[in-house]
Amino acid sequence: MITENGSCGVKGAVLDIKHVRVELGKRSYTVLVGSEIMNEIPFLLGERGWRKAAIVTDSNVGPLYLEKVERTLSRAGIEIGSVMVEAGEDSKSMEEAIRILNYLSSREMTRGDLVIGLGGGVVGDLAGFAASIFKRGLDLLQVPTTLMSQADSSIGGKTGVNLPSGKNLVGTFYQPLAVIADVEMLKTLKTREFKSGLAEVAKYRFLKPDGWPGTLPEFEEALKEKDAFLVEMVSRCAGIKAEVVSRDEWDTGLRAVLNYGHTLGHALETVTGYTGTYTHGEAVSVGMVFAALVSRELGITEDDLVNEHQELLSSAGLPIAPFDPSPEFDKLFEIMLQDKKSRGSLAMVLLEKDGKPLVERGLGRETLWKCYRELIRGE
Ligand SMILES: NC(=O)c1ccc[n+]([C@@H]2O[C@H](COP(=O)([O-])OP(=O)(O)OC[C@H]3O[C@@H](n4cnc5c(N)ncnc54)[C@H](O)[C@@H]3O)[C@@H](O)[C@H]2O)c1
Ligand SMILES: [Zn+2]
Repeated sequence: MITENGSCGVKGAVLDIKHVRVELGKRSYTVLVGSEIMNEIPFLLGERGWRKAAIVTDSNVGPLYLEKVERTLSRAGIEIGSVMVEAGEDSKSMEEAIRILNYLSSREMTRGDLVIGLGGGVVGDLAGFAASIFKRGLDLLQVPTTLMSQADSSIGGKTGVNLPSGKNLVGTFYQPLAVIADVEMLKTLKTREFKSGLAEVAKYRFLKPDGWPGTLPEFEEALKEKDAFLVEMVSRCAGIKAEVVSRDEWDTGLRAVLNYGHTLGHALETVTGYTGTYTHGEAVSVGMVFAALVSRELGITEDDLVNEHQELLSSAGLPIAPFDPSPEFDKLFEIMLQDKKSRGSLAMVLLEKDGKPLVERGLGRETLWKCYRELIRGE
């Protein structure tokens, strides 16, 4: 059952679980991070009186983990069913959301029942969206299975789907009842997906360097997938995200800092048509180096920050310059101007000397073009 301290007794065994609290008044909840905790989901959540649960998962995660999660919930007397979507960003669509809503309806689920998002950020956003609008909201449990979703996207209540005209254009704010992050599940991730998640981890490291357990060696450890380190890393990121979300649940100000590296990152993903040329994390990695270069150019930080970005990200096997050096800069600039932080003049999250983030507005084309050339040259 969820408690505020470090470990839980389960049938004689003791699970070391980190508890991260997202403080949102009546909508507060706990992110539980541990290794091999997925078999204990009902115990961790405690008795909540659910009769039925619907698990939303994808075609990669389902074959690996669905049966285990179904079994553990069935043992608790909950009537289980599942909906599977094709793995990949294309499933984050209105069509798939409607298919899930029809499934919930066919099961005659009510507001006291539970939807579980078992998968990466795609499944989490989609399941959360369906849970938030079916009968104006069912209970939601997030069981994130990628590093990106454990460290970031499962926390904070942003749900949604894409439209053909753009990403994340439809969505809701809808907080889960809990998030259960089992780092054991990360071991089946493809290396490229794991590294992509490391970019979001690095983002949190840059946004809040204090108290982070060292720098480069830890990333090497993470690449070796050591459980204790993964638990520490995921819970640390979750803690920073929880703090930001608690202070700005509806994304009206402070939460924008979580977009560090995402201005150029999104532009690179858009210009390459979201075809997988870049994973999200790879694009954000390049975007963070760019943001550090812009911070240096404006004199708000020093060389050290740029070097630190380049070293840390490359030690994690992430790119620090665009894959295609031919600069379609005008196109990228155009897209960056449409970023939702920008409102007419280009805005970006930058970092001050001590790692303090700020949103800088009114950035000119010339400044950014100079930094983009430095980015390509790896300076
Ligand atoms: N809601 C938010 O606050 C928020 C924040 C950031 C990103 N996002 C969204 O998250 C999505 C990206 O999430 P993602 O990077 O997790 O991508 P994803 O959900 O597409 O997962 C990546 C790939 O890994 C596979 N996979 C997932 N878990 C696995 C496991 N344990 N073992 C083996 N394979 C596994 C998936 O099937 C998929 O092929 C985007 O749609 C993005 O918009 C949302
Ligand atoms: Zn991101």
